[in-house]
Amino acid sequence: MAIEWSAETREFHLRNDQVSYVIRVLENGSLGHVYFGAALAQGKSYGHLVPGEFFGFSNRLGQPVPLEFPSGGIGDYRIPALAVELPDGSGVVDLRYRSHRILPGKAGLPGLPSTYVDLGSEAETLEVTVADHVAQIEVRLLYTIYRDRPLVVRGARIANSGTAAVVLRSAMSASLDLPDSDWEFLTLSGEWARECHVERLALRPGRQSVSSTRGASGHQHNPFVALTRPATTEEYGEAYGFSLVYSGNFLLEAEVEPFGTTRMRAGVNPDGFSWLLEPGAEFVTPEAVLAFSRAGLGELSDAFHRLFRERLAGGAWRDRDRPIVINNWEATYFDFDEPKLLAIASTAHDLGIELFVLDDGWFGRRDNDTTSLGDWQVNLSKLPGGLDSLARKVEDLGMRFGIWIEPEMISRQSQLFAQHPEWAIGIPTRPRTEGRNQYVLDMSRPEVVNYLFQVVSGILGSAPISYVKWDMNRNITEPHSPTLPAWRQGEFMHRYSLGVYSLYDRLTKAFPGVLFESCAGGGGRFDPGMLAFAPQAWASDDTDAIERLKIQWGTSLPYPLSAISAHVSAVPNHQVGRVTPLATRAAVAFFGVLGYELDPTTLSAQERAEIADQVAFYKQWRELFQRGRFLRLRSPFEGDRDETAWMTVARDARSAVVGHYRILSRPNPGPQRLRLRGLDPAASYRVSIWPSAGQVAGGPARPIVLGGDELMAAGLVLESNRASAERGDFRARLYVLEAT
Ligand code: GLA
Repeated sequence: MAIEWSAETREFHLRNDQVSYVIRVLENGSLGHVYFGAALAQGKSYGHLVPGEFFGFSNRLGQPVPLEFPSGGIGDYRIPALAVELPDGSGVVDLRYRSHRILPGKAGLPGLPSTYVDLGSEAETLEVTVADHVAQIEVRLLYTIYRDRPLVVRGARIANSGTAAVVLRSAMSASLDLPDSDWEFLTLSGEWARECHVERLALRPGRQSVSSTRGASGHQHNPFVALTRPATTEEYGEAYGFSLVYSGNFLLEAEVEPFGTTRMRAGVNPDGFSWLLEPGAEFVTPEAVLAFSRAGLGELSDAFHRLFRERLAGGAWRDRDRPIVINNWEATYFDFDEPKLLAIASTAHDLGIELFVLDDGWFGRRDNDTTSLGDWQVNLSKLPGGLDSLARKVEDLGMRFGIWIEPEMISRQSQLFAQHPEWAIGIPTRPRTEGRNQYVLDMSRPEVVNYLFQVVSGILGSAPISYVKWDMNRNITEPHSPTLPAWRQGEFMHRYSLGVYSLYDRLTKAFPGVLFESCAGGGGRFDPGMLAFAPQAWASDDTDAIERLKIQWGTSLPYPLSAISAHVSAVPNHQVGRVTPLATRAAVAFFGVLGYELDPTTLSAQERAEIADQVAFYKQWRELFQRGRFLRLRSPFEGDRDETAWMTVARDARSAVVGHYRILSRPNPGPQRLRLRGLDPAASYRVSIWPSAGQVAGGPARPIVLGGDELMAAGLVLESNRASAERGDFRARLYVLEAT
């Protein structure tokens, strides 16, 4: 890995064995983009790739060439990275190279989550300062390349070097120009309970984007986009991935212009955004991750998984085995008392489950969702001995204890609202819109963040609490803060995110042993910004195994298994009413951080025994399920959508678990093979089936030791489901592979 600078050609070449990123200081001093993609040879100039004159409408007026950080008003009419309103009302900024530094490692960003290095030698960072002496704007563009990751991490620090305030209208983290537009725009889109569904459509002339204006990244679109060739599959073909390390209003946008080139930009959503930059002040953008693969989406995902798991998630839990939890939400909702919770915990403990999570309803007078958010005092009529007594009893069982909180929220019916109505976000002249009967606290106010830090610290210090599920159940309406002057209200949404990050930062530092799981009505804020503080997230409120196939498939495009929290719940399923076999529910939830969300005291002895087996199986393969290399094999979004298959492989390829899921049963199914990936072609693998009860009657005897070469090239012969024990819808089967 190296960052080369040639004073002669005035080119930067950021390179490792997998990717190259080339930038050139153009003749007029602008910073031109030359190339990002597969690694190129070092020590050469690639300046000739910068297009010469071409007959664009404005080619003689300005700069039709790709720029690293384009701005408007100088002849490039495409989507800008930077838009500024200057003191004279004009908006022209023309950034020219001023200086650069090449630094070992990677520095953090003030106030924002970011990827990091453990050792300075893992990465190098290029900081290029570009400036406009008329506008008196100076931008430090940051690029980090790691030694062994096919990606570049980018960001920008925009400073006002003049004597009058300017207003940022758009301050992107990154812009990237690609020389053609033969790409598909792949997004992870959906809604509450159906997050991260894969959508893939050919790029067309004009703009296409995903974004949020909700104050959270949202259920609707994840802050991730891939550009794939039409023929790109999981295994083959080019793909670029763009991800924003941010949890608020974001924009990921592509523009195809008439010459057929594509510009991507990623950053804070300019819609509703403005930022007043006083003289000497600086705006720091969130960072964007730009990754490239020549071997399909599988390799692209692996790059994101490794980066997010190893160098974005932080703290003591980064590399630790995550506990198997039992959560009482779907078991009891708000209707519980200490004996009921202890019965659930004790039964769960007998089944091998490791941590009990007390969900919503333990505080204030919260017997339903209309009240008490903000009143984080334990409800003594439900829990007479308080959290401490319950937590200690749970610990005495041999389990650990965790709680649910929703610190950013406030119910109208709460003591906190009676004391501090001004802390709820709203515009004084308008009614506030309620969402789930609640308002959102103004996290842009430092006193609110301080108050929440005190309150949540008090709770975490009051009992042996080892896990926190931090929820966020509604989006922001009437964005406004009375603490900001009128001309700074456009800063509100970003300042909200900064407040959330500050609270997370302080709490995770004050309680380094606590495992945080983020949640926003399921996957409403499942993003890299949250992952920096909470290494796992509740992927969806939809716990139905069949719906989860799609949700977890999509979520796994950028996010590692260690981030995806997945629970086995009761049937009929509470979200869709579907009845699926218990084994299928587990076989889906295994691929992530496993938990249970049901009342085990109501199950039959046979079901409890099944769960005990599941828990034991998961513990045996936990390393693979949480930190293995995840490979998607058959998509629930393609073909007849009746099947899904995926697998997780040990980094040394000595073991793997394959999951195959058949949604609707078929009459007279033909023989089928499933080609595996990521194995060692020279190894022999012992193949066993889970659940083992499903031995298939008839058919040729299955060899139990198979070659990695055969499994990858010819495929694994799937059991047919003609045997009566195997008939029925929603069947899953796992294949465990162990190198002999
Ligand atoms: C959200 C979460 C659920 C549960 C409820 C409690 O919907 O996603 O898992 O915690 O809130 O109110």
